[in-house]
Amino acid sequence: MIDFDAISRDRLPALLRAMPKAELHIHIEGSLQPELIFALAQRNGVALPYASVQALRAAYAFTDLQSFLDIYYAGASVLLHEEDFFDMAMAYFRRAAADHVVHAELFFDPQTHTERGVGIGTVIAGLTRASRAAQAEFGISALLILCFLRHLSEDAALATLDAALPYREHFVGVGLDSSELGHPPEKFARVFARSRELGLHLVAHAGEEGPPAYIWSALDVLQVQRIDHGVRCVEDAALVARLAAQRVPLTVCPLSNVKLCVYPTLAAHPLPAMLDAGLCATINSDDPAYFGGYLNQNFIATFEALPQLTARHAHRLASNSFEASFAGADVKRRWTEALDKVFASG
Ligand code: HPA
Ligand code: ZN
Repeated sequence: MIDFDAISRDRLPALLRAMPKAELHIHIEGSLQPELIFALAQRNGVALPYASVQALRAAYAFTDLQSFLDIYYAGASVLLHEEDFFDMAMAYFRRAAADHVVHAELFFDPQTHTERGVGIGTVIAGLTRASRAAQAEFGISALLILCFLRHLSEDAALATLDAALPYREHFVGVGLDSSELGHPPEKFARVFARSRELGLHLVAHAGEEGPPAYIWSALDVLQVQRIDHGVRCVEDAALVARLAAQRVPLTVCPLSNVKLCVYPTLAAHPLPAMLDAGLCATINSDDPAYFGGYLNQNFIATFEALPQLTARHAHRLASNSFEASFAGADVKRRWTEALDKVFASG
């Protein structure tokens, strides 16, 4: 038994850092640091609309999701070759290992690359090779989730799924990202039905900027197993009750929510209420190069801003991240035992 009440608040930052955890909501293209963007631009002869690393970083003042996405897609334009995708993912895994991430499920956006003439096989080959290297070098298990861009058509998503099928063994699921408002989940009903028939796991961004109705349709029409973000569920008591009863995981990204002005400050974030309502909420970094922090920074800043969060919540968040992952039961049990050990000696 872990004596959570005996753990003082000043021990929390060290525990948050040291505890093993899974990251389930990371857009790998959102891990591209400005320095790597410029290095890859030079390596590939790509012209950027920013004069320097500093000028690019200075543009990271977002007012909403779309203002971020415009810069995020510009940054991704330097990715051309398998090696670029490998280098990008390895830089993320190195940071994740330092944060005691033991398992990561990486979103990738094939359409961002195929529309520039980069083959989907090139993207998947680079990310797959990096995932294998992450296991060998850092002991991190990694899985890939292919995301459809929701501002494009469902037919484009279906064509992307078809193009990815020769690489089916290299990704475990599909997701839905990009501009949420005006692009409800039900727009992608057929491609998610097809993905389900193929035995793929299903997730979708919903309730970040979009209303609770988008979370309902992600569950009922797309039949997703996890909701990415989902924070706007707190506006709908019946929805919270359903998510809690069915233990539908929500991959919450606190620093992202503040940077994209979903909440004015971390102190205003509903995460404590979500946890206390019994939701299977997790903490994630979303696009760490753009939003001011990797996973541990998200944990530490969130706990600092919200004094009602305790050691019990910290343990719950890490254990939720394992429960919510698409990893096997055996490794989940091992990670949970390692988590308990950190808290027992805390
Ligand atoms: N929301 C939607 N689409 C995205 C995001 C996000 O936070 N990051 C990268 N693509
Ligand atoms: Zn996201």
